[in-house]
Amino acid sequence: MSKVVVIDHPLIQHKLTLIRDKNTGSKAFRDLVKEISMLMGYEITRELPLEEIEIETPVCKTKSMAIAGKKLGIVPILRAGLGMVDGILQLIPAAKVGHVGLYRDPETLMPVEYYCKLPSDVEERELIVLDPMLATGGSANAAIQFLKDRGANCIKLVCLIASPEGIEVVQKEHPDVDIYVASVDEKLNDHAYIVPGLGDAGDRLFGTK
Ligand code: URA
Repeated sequence: MSKVVVIDHPLIQHKLTLIRDKNTGSKAFRDLVKEISMLMGYEITRELPLEEIEIETPVCKTKSMAIAGKKLGIVPILRAGLGMVDGILQLIPAAKVGHVGLYRDPETLMPVEYYCKLPSDVEERELIVLDPMLATGGSANAAIQFLKDRGANCIKLVCLIASPEGIEVVQKEHPDVDIYVASVDEKLNDHAYIVPGLGDAGDRLFGTK
């Protein structure tokens, strides 16, 4: 079974409160999502493997640690996942960025793929899938499956807020994918919104409502 890591650093919790507030406008919302993503990125990368390399300081030769292992890729689920990209990229500027476009059919609530563009060496990368809201788990499951179908074999899922239902659904279908969240909220409502949540993350990021 995969692990679920709740990253509850005080700064993250404070910023989460601000984005939950319905009076927070799009500019502040975007900035805060970026900041939270960066802070989460710090924790997500905590277990990256290191290797000792030889360098020369202005004083002498020495051995020092550098990140080793798989190269990283970031895959935001369009469109709300885009809001998390810059924060993570600030920490890992060499990461390649793929995109998966999914929308939720308002009738069936099932995910429909409309776009997928990934780094060509996807099977050699550790992929970090980004979606601010893990609600029903349908979009995350579908996006992870698209990546696996294209050869990905090392995937983490990073969300700001998750429902208990969404976590269960992803863990059941993808027990190899660890899930990182800033909060596990109470439940989903009848419209598949997370309660208390923050509303529609895409609309709030892009000011479309
Ligand atoms: N997507 C959102 O943006 N918000 C929710 O609460 C659920 C899905």
